[in-house]
Amino acid sequence: MQRGSHHEAWSSRFAFLLAAVGSAVGLGNIWKFPYVTGVNGGGAFVLVYVACVILVVIPILIGELLIGRRGGESPANSMAALAKDENRHSSWEILGWLGIIAAFLILTFYSVIAGWSLAYVLETAKGSFENIDATGSREIFDGLLADPLSLGLWHGLFMGITMFVVSRGVKKGLERAVTVMLPSLFVILLVLVGYAAIAGEFKRAFDFLFTTDFSKIDANVILIAVGQAFFSVSVGIGALMTYGAYLPRDVSIPKMSCVIAAADTLVAVLAGLAIFPIVFAYGLEPGEGPGLIFVTLPIAFGQMPGGTFIGTLFFVLLAFAALTSSISLLEPTVSRLVEQRDWKRVPVTICAGVAAWLVGLGSVFSFNNWADFTPLGIFPTFANKTVFDLLDYLATNILLPLGGMLIAIFAGWLMAKKSTLDELGLTDGPVYRVWRFLVRFVSPVAVGLVFLFNLA
Ligand code: PFF
Repeated sequence: MQRGSHHEAWSSRFAFLLAAVGSAVGLGNIWKFPYVTGVNGGGAFVLVYVACVILVVIPILIGELLIGRRGGESPANSMAALAKDENRHSSWEILGWLGIIAAFLILTFYSVIAGWSLAYVLETAKGSFENIDATGSREIFDGLLADPLSLGLWHGLFMGITMFVVSRGVKKGLERAVTVMLPSLFVILLVLVGYAAIAGEFKRAFDFLFTTDFSKIDANVILIAVGQAFFSVSVGIGALMTYGAYLPRDVSIPKMSCVIAAADTLVAVLAGLAIFPIVFAYGLEPGEGPGLIFVTLPIAFGQMPGGTFIGTLFFVLLAFAALTSSISLLEPTVSRLVEQRDWKRVPVTICAGVAAWLVGLGSVFSFNNWADFTPLGIFPTFANKTVFDLLDYLATNILLPLGGMLIAIFAGWLMAKKSTLDELGLTDGPVYRVWRFLVRFVSPVAVGLVFLFNLA
């Protein structure tokens, strides 16, 4: 069967762009970026983060999309096909499987957190946070986490919506969903930034995000920034490689990659500019950690005029952002399965989604019944890690950077120069040479160093 014949293609470059930006923009931007920046000293972290995106992540993203489009299939079959074309060992197929497995594993716990955002849409809309204090807000959050039944149901609802979109296919499902959700997400975000600019301490937030105190940059900050950059731009696993397989040939991969990374970074910074002015205006703690948007922000929503509306809008934004990412996490598995003797998309999506939901229950229980269960507790590094922590660690700190490094090696060293030039539609000029230098030397070395530090 001809390569790519199992799959539909995007109807336009704009559709692909929306889908890829939708994959990149997610909980990583709105939930994680602000709190990680808050914990790691503000402007210094932002600077290191942007450097990682430009020097390490964009070159790998270009490599990932190029492999995806040239292979034209799911990551596993694309890697197998390219290894053959380029006369490389057939075990490179494993890199594709690694991507599929990483995406699946991330989906299992991503959906649990996304479920919190659905729960918070309801909670905020009901007015539960009106005039609440810090203790009350924490009680609501802790109450949600302590209840496996409701966590499991919200996780199930979110997974169900993801499955519905993916089951409808590339054009009717993925494309339609992102065409509605991504522009809405931008509008909501801009409304929230506008509100924060008028009602919050915007100048302080701006200084917090952009004033760089170089003394705060150390190895640990760099380590966290690299991990966050990979996760946030969705690079290093099968998601964007799969989206690349549906990409028409006349689209410029280097340009698209820069736009995707720039849009992702812009949204992360805008999320910071929506959240921190409110945090400062209400005397809350910017370094609060993972609870920043679920515990801290609702206190502000409860006090501000129109807070029920603004708060509900905020959690709708979070849920939309999560959904356009979760569909890209389910798609790699589905795309591999439909290549299997032409299995049908709907039953395959249902099976994969239900399996991800079941595995995700391990993360659900990590917040309550299994809170003290640390499966790898005998190893000092994993001493306090629950099932959720372990999956997050495995996917974000190991599989994503490892996948990224292998993609860089394959695209930079093992593919013939002619193939990469041809697929990127470039001549052997400055743009190509800068990319090739970064993807051969800078990206793999940077990731290698991160691993060494991580293990040390
Ligand atoms: N980039 C998404 C976020 O920032 O939330 C998460 C993600 C999606 C990571 C898809 C990896 C991926 F393949």
